[in-house]
Amino acid sequence: MVKKIGVLTSGGDAPGMNAAIRAVTRVALSNGIEVMGIHDGYKGLLEGNMELLDRTRVSDILARGGTTLGSARLPEFREEDVQDTCVNILRQNEIEALVVIGGDGSYRGAQALTKKGINCIGLPGTIDNDIPGTDFTIGFDTALNTCVENVDKLRDTSSSHHRCSIVEVMGNHCGDLALYTAINCGAEMVISPETGYDEIEVLERLHYLGEVVRKNHAIIIVSEKLCDVEALAKKVSQNTGFSGRATVLGHIQRGGSPSPTDRMLASRMGEKAVDLLMEGIGGHCVGIIDNEITSVPIDEALERPRKSRKKLYRLFERLV
Ligand code: F6P
Repeated sequence: MVKKIGVLTSGGDAPGMNAAIRAVTRVALSNGIEVMGIHDGYKGLLEGNMELLDRTRVSDILARGGTTLGSARLPEFREEDVQDTCVNILRQNEIEALVVIGGDGSYRGAQALTKKGINCIGLPGTIDNDIPGTDFTIGFDTALNTCVENVDKLRDTSSSHHRCSIVEVMGNHCGDLALYTAINCGAEMVISPETGYDEIEVLERLHYLGEVVRKNHAIIIVSEKLCDVEALAKKVSQNTGFSGRATVLGHIQRGGSPSPTDRMLASRMGEKAVDLLMEGIGGHCVGIIDNEITSVPIDEALERPRKSRKKLYRLFERLV
């Protein structure tokens, strides 16, 4: 049976990563397995930057945002000689298997290491909810709560001033944060990779809402990278009855204490990762599907199409 495992967090941090580190550590220790915490993702692995984790090292981290192990992006990890160096470092430290908490880039690294003889399990840690093979990722619920809390505040002030608030949320080519925020905040419009962006259509619709429906204010939720929200706000002021104001929520969405939903998800997924490694399984990623914790081979998960959001977009349209 496996005697020593490693755990690392990679890519953009997400609330709940600490809860996952804690669960991996505590479940492993209770099964007599040592745990090495690797700092700063694959970058730290390449540098041999790691520490042995005991029960108390992971005390008091459950409620903390970010990742106490630190995170980084290492594009060079795609190179085979970098992977070989990392395998050697893992072997020198007697680490037989690894739990990788991160996004799909981190999964590809986990898959590469597994092929080289180090069993790895991927846990989906990102606020973007863009990982195939799971309904939800660790951190998405907390980020959504942050978005909703802030957009609710913007609604107060925009309704006082007959304004249109254009709010950019993160998501990295995935529209889930935008769509879920729009539904939860009763937004008038959502612009996401699924809806696409048509400036004329947005302005015409706002004009109709302001001048015909006589709405007092409007909220538009925009998924990052789709349009320049400052430029759109100016156009709104020039072409509709509303005065436009842009807000970019930015990295605030990545911080904060994880919600109970994320703590629960991270704890359940962390437990599953250790169980899989104890069974000698590697190259899998853990997911939650219909509230059941599941696992599938990483390559299978990465090839799966994302679940359609058609029904949620229809719901959004029906609620406007
Ligand atoms: O993947 C998480 C994420 O926050 C994305 O939503 C965003 O596009 C990106 O990371 C921002 O990256 P960085 O923190 O490197 O600016």
